Amino acid sequence: MKFNIPPGVFDLIPLNEKEKWKSSYIWNYIEKIIREVTAIYGYQEIRTPTFERTELFQRSVGDDSDIVSKEMYTFIDKGNRSMSLRPEGTAPVMRAFVENRLDLSSVNQKLFYIAPMFRYERAQAGRYRQHHQFGIEAIGNGSAEQDVEVIDLLFAFYKRLGLKNLRLCINSLGSSETRVKFKEALKSYLLPHMSHLSEDSKNRFQNNPLRILDSKDAKDQEIVRNAPSILEFLSEEDRIHFQEVQNLLTSLTIPFEVNPLLVRGLDYYNKTVFEVVAGELGAQNSIGGGGRYDGLVAQMGGPNLPSFGFGTGLERVIQTLINQQIDLPQPNVPFIYFIALGEKPKKICFEFLHSLRAKNIPAQMDYTSKKIGKAMQNADQLKATYTVVVGENEIEKKTWQLKNMQTGELQDVHVQEFALFVAELYKKLND
Ligand code: HAM
Repeated sequence: MKFNIPPGVFDLIPLNEKEKWKSSYIWNYIEKIIREVTAIYGYQEIRTPTFERTELFQRSVGDDSDIVSKEMYTFIDKGNRSMSLRPEGTAPVMRAFVENRLDLSSVNQKLFYIAPMFRYERAQAGRYRQHHQFGIEAIGNGSAEQDVEVIDLLFAFYKRLGLKNLRLCINSLGSSETRVKFKEALKSYLLPHMSHLSEDSKNRFQNNPLRILDSKDAKDQEIVRNAPSILEFLSEEDRIHFQEVQNLLTSLTIPFEVNPLLVRGLDYYNKTVFEVVAGELGAQNSIGGGGRYDGLVAQMGGPNLPSFGFGTGLERVIQTLINQQIDLPQPNVPFIYFIALGEKPKKICFEFLHSLRAKNIPAQMDYTSKKIGKAMQNADQLKATYTVVVGENEIEKKTWQLKNMQTGELQDVHVQEFALFVAELYKKLND
């Protein structure tokens, strides 16, 4: 019996020639950049479990959000508890923050994660049922500087990768009082248009009217164009905070647009929210998003601390890199590939293989020692820089021949100098 992969998920294989973004070496490279950038900005890694109690997401992301109401992978475990695969990273980090009393070790916890998220969505290009996020959660500081530091970190990450043509959209959702007042005004505005709204928006009217603002439906978009703006409902304090965020973004020369229709799909946000879109991605163009969620730590039973964070989807980041034809590092290749013909050469080459690897030189060896042609083919496929064929003859003459696989050039090296010679060659080519 042959099995195939479930819909909406994918394998990462070492090198996927057809769909390059599914190559694991690219993911390793991205993760390396994440670790570099987060270290520079002073963020530390947090790892939480893949599943949590379902209630955690219901209480934080919100019962009425699509993520919780329609998209969670929920199951009853053998102890009769309802568990859900993590659909997003913020709620688990807040739970871990409170449970581990991280507030005691530092007033300002700056955390990052790289983790798979699970959402039962309609699978299509750019939208998966398991996707991966690089996320940031900065807990304990409510300043505009904190908002902009996190946005700046995200753009530093994109910039290091070489991404271009990204648009940053920002908005402020104010406080919960602002949103209560705004919801009423929005509903009064929408009521006469009810019959023209999409089915989805009609359903959202009662419980989640804000989401109608960022509907993808063309008719809905036309209706909301003249809707009241949430920015007019902000308190003085929130208005000043939002203005400060804009001033700081300008001073760091991070271009942005204010979009009062940006509301985000998770319930926990207040004040600043943002999204980054990449033109090349088509319909699923949101490459990252986040915002402030000041009440969440307290809601999770912790101290009343303000927080700000984002999540950026790695599938979409990598697809954008490839669409923009940005240079990516090559997969690792062996610097030298040993082809040993016969038992004695095999033993000697195996020892050389070990000692070169101990000198940090990527080395591999053909273990079949049958046909030289097949072994050469293998070296070619692995894109080895050099090969060396060692048979009884080479052992006797004590001279081995290095072959440059690109130029075909041959070079005789005495066996006693071989390891040193290869090590120096490697150093020279990699300096
Ligand atoms: P989110 O906007 O739901 O936010 O997801 C963040 C990013 O994950 C999106 O911008 C997108 O790039 C990617 N993404 C989401 N769903 C999918 C999917 N089905 N397939 C592929 N990529 C996807 C959050 O999850 C918040 N927890 C972010 C946050 C952290 N806010 C504050 N802190």
